[in-house]
Amino acid sequence: MSVEVDGYGLALFNVEGTIYVLDNTCPHAGGPLGEGTLQGEIVECPWHGWRFNVRTGERPENPDFKVTCYPVEVRDNEIRVMLPLASDKKQT
Ligand code: FES
Repeated sequence: MSVEVDGYGLALFNVEGTIYVLDNTCPHAGGPLGEGTLQGEIVECPWHGWRFNVRTGERPENPDFKVTCYPVEVRDNEIRVMLPLASDKKQT
């Protein structure tokens, strides 16, 4: 699923009970990875089909293309994501 938190677009995935969080923006052309199709640890972008490992952020076909993975903790039914400080956020 796709969510936005503090200005960050995030893609959340549940792989057999383990939660992974990636930057929601596909590096190809900006597709929403959280709306892609998940098979095992691999999500396929809904726009043009680039695939990424949700555990590592790497594209299996070319690891030079990678999306940011954020550390996650699940506690008391809450998903907590460690985001960079707002001052560290890239300006685009
Ligand atoms: S935008 Fe994701 S594959 Fe093109």
